[in-house]
Amino acid sequence: MTVSVAPTGIKKLDEALGGGFPRNGISLVVGPSGIGKTILSVQWLAEGVRNGETCVYISTTLPSEAVIAYYGDMKLLKDAVDKIHWYDMYISPKDLIPFTKEKILKIFHKVMPDFFDEQLNLKKPIDRLVLDSLTTIEKIVGDISMFRYLGATWIRFFHDNKISTMLIEEMDEDGKKMGEMRNFSEATILMDFMEHQNMHMRALKIVKRYGFNHPTYWTPFHIREEGIIL
Ligand SMILES: Nc1ncnc2c1ncn2[C@@H]1O[C@H](COP(=O)(O)OP(=O)(O)O)[C@@H](O)[C@H]1O
Ligand SMILES: [Mg+2]
Repeated sequence: MTVSVAPTGIKKLDEALGGGFPRNGISLVVGPSGIGKTILSVQWLAEGVRNGETCVYISTTLPSEAVIAYYGDMKLLKDAVDKIHWYDMYISPKDLIPFTKEKILKIFHKVMPDFFDEQLNLKKPIDRLVLDSLTTIEKIVGDISMFRYLGATWIRFFHDNKISTMLIEEMDEDGKKMGEMRNFSEATILMDFMEHQNMHMRALKIVKRYGFNHPTYWTPFHIREEGIIL
């Protein structure tokens, strides 16, 4: 079976992923702060834009203007920054109460009114979407079973709308928590700082990729103007 893919443009990573992240599927990127999750995600969007796809970035942490200010000048976003649709998801617990399916989906109309109307119909297709990060939402929801319900509901919503989605989760400082949405994703990438011959370096590992027998070892990577390089 050939699974349709949404490539990152990072040759070695795409090969290890069987061509890229699953098209119309849910991918998860987990790692500690500063490891390169945001850079990987905007690199993936920039690749989509270069293929003529409609790409959306939703920030739950920094205002998207700040993300653009930090990364917009990097080579990896050159020619792509103006074509990516940047949004902020700034919500309060009140936006989620009463905690119903309707209420937690309504947020997408509030965040992206140009893409979703009030009845949550998609006005124009979205090819790739990044939600950076889900951890903020997890903390706002507070209750883990409610958060899982929200995650499952959003994931179904992305699936129904045929959006290739990349969810990002912060890893706890102790590195023990691998991401609350790991059971819901079709591909999961773990990024972490490693110590190697007394040097700190960045590395990533594919934890899962349904439908493809991927390598399971850690691969070192660097962050450059061009983005992530394996
Ligand atoms: N132009 C650059 N060249 C090299 N490294 C950079 C550049 N810009 C940022 N970085 C590195 O990327 C890191 C931030 O990556 P980011 O994707 O924002 O991390 P995360 O989203 O995982 O918190 C910074 O801590 C810095 O080390
Ligand atoms: Mg980030």
